[in-house]
Amino acid sequence: MNVGVLGAGAVGGSVVELAEEYGHTVTVFADSQSAVVDPDGIDAAAALSAKRTDGRVGSADPEAALDAEYDVLVEATPTTLGDAEPGFSHVRTALERDRHVVLANKGPIAERYGDIRRLEAESAGTVRFEATVGGALPVISTIEGFGPSRVGSLHGVLNGTANFILSRMSAEGLDYEHVLVEAQDLGVAETDPTFDVDGTDTALKGVIVANLLFEGEYSLEDASIEGIQALSGNMLELAREDGQTVRLIAEVRNGNIRVSPRLVPRESPVAPSGTHNAVQLTVEDAGQVTLSGRGAGGAETATAVLADVGRLGENRR
Ligand code: HSE
Repeated sequence: MNVGVLGAGAVGGSVVELAEEYGHTVTVFADSQSAVVDPDGIDAAAALSAKRTDGRVGSADPEAALDAEYDVLVEATPTTLGDAEPGFSHVRTALERDRHVVLANKGPIAERYGDIRRLEAESAGTVRFEATVGGALPVISTIEGFGPSRVGSLHGVLNGTANFILSRMSAEGLDYEHVLVEAQDLGVAETDPTFDVDGTDTALKGVIVANLLFEGEYSLEDASIEGIQALSGNMLELAREDGQTVRLIAEVRNGNIRVSPRLVPRESPVAPSGTHNAVQLTVEDAGQVTLSGRGAGGAETATAVLADVGRLGENRR
């Protein structure tokens, strides 16, 4: 497949690095809104293309870039809320040109699901979004594999940063602020980890799952969200003495999306350690199905992106 990559963060960069291993060719579209300038002042397009010996760099103007030759657009610009722009417009432009789209950006599929599905219905292109939920964990394709109507609910951990912080607080009785600084020093938490700790990132993933399970048009406004900022090390230590721990749990059930810190047994399948994610699906006639593993690092998320690109290639054949 000829893969066009829009977005020059950790995920876009990892997609470029890994795509050739998967047998794809890559064109990097660097746009002014998503491009990051690295500390040496090299712009994103140059930085990404330098990772490839025969790198091709498309136009810096997304509208012009999306006219170029490519089979699949990988949309990996930063997630935005509300109207999900400019990501949504990138998806629309690609679909109007009958190209496939693979999303790493959660915004369009969380906030504009109905619009995306309507555009897709009029296009020869297909939209896939495995990378938006749980990093490398195949949450979306597992749900699709069973058939969304046979999956009654999802619950579990979908944010590695919050999970790292809670794991450390629980193990050491440390306070939130202390562990947050540690997570930032280690590069686990982003410079601005607001959406990770206030539950927004987990809720976006819950919304995406709800849209799939209930064929809805849910958005972030439909989610009940509570973050982890108010938890104290003392609370987690008390839970630990009772054989329990606290995790930031997403629950998607009966059309409801809820994100909140919850007590769970320390040995629970949905109490992963470190930055791991872990979710349980309730599947009709099959009971609980658990997926757990590394969450949303650059390479892990790129792996999910490339799995989607591979599925689109299989469909074409
Ligand atoms: N920052 C998120 C996490 C990944 O810590 O899991 C982006 O969805």
